[in-house]
Amino acid sequence: TLQLDTTFLKNAIRTVPDWPQPGVMFRDITPLLQDPKAFRLLVDVFVLRYMDREIDVVAGIDARGFILGSVVAHQLNAGFVPVRKKGKLPFTTIAEDYELEYGNATVEMHTDAARKGDRVLLIDDLIATGGTMMAASRLLARLGAEVVEAAAIVDLPELGGSKLLREAGLEIFTVCD
Ligand code: PRP
Ligand code: ADE
Repeated sequence: TLQLDTTFLKNAIRTVPDWPQPGVMFRDITPLLQDPKAFRLLVDVFVLRYMDREIDVVAGIDARGFILGSVVAHQLNAGFVPVRKKGKLPFTTIAEDYELEYGNATVEMHTDAARKGDRVLLIDDLIATGGTMMAASRLLARLGAEVVEAAAIVDLPELGGSKLLREAGLEIFTVCD
């Protein structure tokens, strides 16, 4: 596997203390997306990792997972499907509840977003407690799809999410922690 120096990407992520509530160190990826070289490197890291993995579908998680997920899907010649917060999808949906670092939420997918045996790459911007990725992977499992890997830009290992997800049998990939 190709080893890339991801210090450049780490340095492009801004940490905002006490947002959206006291005690949270919020990892803000907007400077990374705003910098053309950093955004391209980020996309390239993902595309090189998955280009030979026969990905049928990229599932991007609402909202920041849509940004990287859609570009990666395009580059992989894969389809893109959204994993959305409750109440946003118009067609028939399935839902999973989960807990966040700062609250509770529900994610939904369309029942036809993936089919039995589809090889799915799950993408979000960040893994904190892992609740969001776990709920999204449960949705895909219910549709009979195979989650090839659950990938994010940032892992917050001290919150234990990536460990929990690995213990649940998921392959995890992140570029910064
Ligand atoms: C953030 C982030 C991940 C999730 C990670 O999204 O984008 O989706 O939290 O946390 P977890 O690992 O503890 O589940 P958020 O729910 O804040 O929604 P947003 O993308 O709409 O801002
Ligand atoms: N989602 C959950 N925790 C987060 C954090 N610390 N920074 C950015 N997004 C998050």
